[in-house]
Amino acid sequence: MEEIKFYYVENIPLELHKVRVVQKLHLVPIERRLKALEEGGYNTFRLTTNDVFLDMLTDSGTNAMSDNQLAAMMRADDAYAGSQSFFRLQKAVEDVLGKKYYLPVHQGRAAENILSNAYIRKGSLIPMNYHFTTTMAHITQYGGKIAELLYDEGYVIDSAHPFKGNMNIEKLEETIKTHGAKNIPFIRMEASTNLIGGQPFSVQNLRDVRTIADKYKIRLVLDASLLGENAYLVHLREEEFKESSLGEIIKIMTDLADIVYFSARKLSSSRGGGICTNDHDVYQELEALIPLFEGFLTYGGISVREIESMAVGLYETLDETMIRQSPDFIAYLVNSLDAHGVPMVKPAGVLGAHVNAMDICDHIPQKEYPAGALAAALYLISGIRGMERGTLSNQRDEYGNETLADMELVRLAVPRRVFTLSQIKYVVDRMAWLYENRKLIGGLRFVYEPPVLRFFMGGLEPVNDWPQKLIAKFKEDFGESL
Ligand code: F0G
Repeated sequence: MEEIKFYYVENIPLELHKVRVVQKLHLVPIERRLKALEEGGYNTFRLTTNDVFLDMLTDSGTNAMSDNQLAAMMRADDAYAGSQSFFRLQKAVEDVLGKKYYLPVHQGRAAENILSNAYIRKGSLIPMNYHFTTTMAHITQYGGKIAELLYDEGYVIDSAHPFKGNMNIEKLEETIKTHGAKNIPFIRMEASTNLIGGQPFSVQNLRDVRTIADKYKIRLVLDASLLGENAYLVHLREEEFKESSLGEIIKIMTDLADIVYFSARKLSSSRGGGICTNDHDVYQELEALIPLFEGFLTYGGISVREIESMAVGLYETLDETMIRQSPDFIAYLVNSLDAHGVPMVKPAGVLGAHVNAMDICDHIPQKEYPAGALAAALYLISGIRGMERGTLSNQRDEYGNETLADMELVRLAVPRRVFTLSQIKYVVDRMAWLYENRKLIGGLRFVYEPPVLRFFMGGLEPVNDWPQKLIAKFKEDFGESL
């Protein structure tokens, strides 16, 4: 991969695209930000974008689309059945992911619903490197359980390990032996494991998982939502692939899986999703569920325009200048915050920079949601919207008890080609200030707790008047500045 060196200025990640459409942002005063938090139940999901300056909630459906994607949308073929747009996408899936059968679904979790409906029964166990919220919700909804099998290294927040998303192979085999292969409909591997900080697995690890899957005749499912970035980090970090192109690495990974599914809101910077396979039996097992839950087989609940942009976006996944932009900005953000002493998930992963709230807010008990509190506090002092990824995002156990998360993180997502470096520097500045003043942050408690995926629409309140204290300190240090 080619490097661009600077001669006088520090080496910074350089944008290899130009901005041609812009959207005005709103940096509202801190008093309005406090009101917005109150109106939104101290839950960043419930803020509206008119109150948000930098939207770092997610990279899902928020990536900048290319000129070629937008152009392709214009030639979309509107048809309920047999749309040419679908066939262009099907070809892109085959060219990029190497799978000839493609089932369209309206987004990633819809693929999880279809797979769970087809394969999960009461008593099923799904071994995986780590869960994603929607994956777990669907598996448990159909009566299944999950077994998370990371190596211990995966849970070490500040680490030098290049592949924290690797599956523990010994534990995988042990789990299969204990539980019985017949109760394990599939093994799931998630590329760039989201909830532990966007951490990749190595190709070698995926090969080892495949070997075990073959030994016990269990299918291997790959969640490819963040596959392009996992391939980029394999290229950077796994010796064997130093000379390989992203396309080659992607194909090697998808070849190892029986079923590949993805959220196109991430992979391909569009909207929609899909399930693909080369196994005709699998295709037939799943086919009938698409019209039932999603829509006819040639659109699957996705608008034809998005289908066109997905096809182009999939090919663009092979372009290193496209794929590396977000991880390179994330590395810059992580390293800059690290230099200010802010505890971060390391090494820098993909999707976003992940701040270690367990450490920063060690004065807040986990039951008062330190990561939720930190996300709210960051919004209050900066207008930056991050996302809680900790106990608040966990579901209660079957007896209704709180399950404390392994990690309390605030994710600052860096959607692909959206932010400029000066905006990233603003994030560094405000997050570093908040770190200095962290003891002013207090906990949160629920006032409204939904029964499923509670973090989306739940309402909370501060346990005391800590937001007012934080505002007072902000005013002291920043005066009239926004
Ligand atoms: N799998 C992974 C690894 C994901 O990150 C997501 C979504 C999904 C599946 C579900 O896809 O949203 O299209 O239904 N992640 C988003 C996020 C929501 O913000 O990280 P979806």
